[in-house]
Amino acid sequence: MSDEGNPQQAPTAHKLQTPIGMHDILPDDHEFFTFIKKVVRHRARQCGFRRITTPILEATEVFQRGIGDATDIVDKEMYTFTDKGDRSMTLKPEGTAGVVRSYIEHGMKELPQPVQLYYIEPHFRYDKPQKGRYRQFWQFGIEIIGETDPALDAQIIDLANRINEDLGIAHLFQIQINNIGCPKCRTKYKEELVNFYIGKERSLCENCQDRLHKNPLRLLDCKAEDCRILAELAPKFEQYRCPTCVEFHTKLKGYLDELKIEYVENPKLVRGLDYYTGTVFEFWDKTEGAQNAIGGGGRYDGLTELMGGQPTPAVGYAAGLERIIGHMHKEGIKVPSKDDLHIFVAQLGDDAKKKCLTLLNQLRERGIKAVGALGKGSMKAQMRLADKFKVPYTLIMGITEVREGVVIVRNMQKGQQRPVPFDEVVEEVVKLIGEENLDKYSPGELLY
Ligand code: HAM
Repeated sequence: MSDEGNPQQAPTAHKLQTPIGMHDILPDDHEFFTFIKKVVRHRARQCGFRRITTPILEATEVFQRGIGDATDIVDKEMYTFTDKGDRSMTLKPEGTAGVVRSYIEHGMKELPQPVQLYYIEPHFRYDKPQKGRYRQFWQFGIEIIGETDPALDAQIIDLANRINEDLGIAHLFQIQINNIGCPKCRTKYKEELVNFYIGKERSLCENCQDRLHKNPLRLLDCKAEDCRILAELAPKFEQYRCPTCVEFHTKLKGYLDELKIEYVENPKLVRGLDYYTGTVFEFWDKTEGAQNAIGGGGRYDGLTELMGGQPTPAVGYAAGLERIIGHMHKEGIKVPSKDDLHIFVAQLGDDAKKKCLTLLNQLRERGIKAVGALGKGSMKAQMRLADKFKVPYTLIMGITEVREGVVIVRNMQKGQQRPVPFDEVVEEVVKLIGEENLDKYSPGELLY
């Protein structure tokens, strides 16, 4: 019988799940996220970057103008909807366009230049979900806005590389670099590319046939077999790069050499976003190549103007946190767990329960991570739980202990226990745990 036929019967319950291509970040995953965020914050602050957070969604135009209508991201992968005010809004598929919108909106041009900003946020792309490719994913990004010099591009690459080193995964990646020229030399090159491909359209994949007049540079990094063969024969950008771009690129390579950063020149690297000018780079997985690039970036000197601001040079980089974590798992890298508990508090009887509430607070105020199963009845059930939490010590208080003003301190590994006066138990626990292992919390500290 259908549910509609019987109003008394509850509708069949569907199994509720995360949306396709999106994931819960469970407590074990958060240990990795927290570790990566700390590394990024530390390294970015060292270099004078300050954190920015832009809204999770923006007017669709921000991305259409910024990333470019002819890119896969804008054309196929955006989560776009009309809000109740009939405005077209989009969940941000990347961070740079929003940061530049914010730079213009808040008059950051008036600040000492360059303005250096970083972010760690979720992004959304309606991509085909597969390994390392999700519909919601986290990125950290670093942007230097307001100045142009190849030394800044080198610094961004260096910072990205240092973060990978701190995370223990730098050796897995190869840095690929290219210079896709300024609008002047690139326009000429695009014309030559289109001329080359005209008459060969039928050998191109469907995607590339579509891109040929909209975004011909993308034909160079298409993965389809026939497109790859044609890309090998296509005119090379080196022949069209203007002297200014040649000099910029040569200087960048000199700075990278100075910083002892290894890189590979890849004349076919063009990136999937339209705002790039000049330098582009990606961190490729040494075994899987571009497919599993962990991060990428480049110079976007024309973006601010495109978004309605004054011409302002800029360079930046972003990397995907899920991909970083995937590589950390593959390498067997462990991160420090801050969630391990120090103490379990077990109690029996109403008076003991009351005392335990205060005791738990006193322990936590001192930096001791403590839990008590205040809802559990029997001592046996509580001790079972203490075992599950894998705490090194359990504090036990029953009717006798309350009467005598003591707490039993039990060493869980050795199975030994002894009474300690109630007023002394917190400091006794500190001695056992070690002052250096406490989880100190100071509300004055920056906690985000
Ligand atoms: P992007 O190359 O599109 O660049 O993305 C950067 C990184 O984000 C990728 O290398 C990858 O690790 C991660 N990522 C991208 N899409 C997905 C996905 N669907 N699932 C999982 N991870 C993904 C940008 O977004 C530019 N805004 C970078 C930039 C900053 N350029 C200048 N400044």
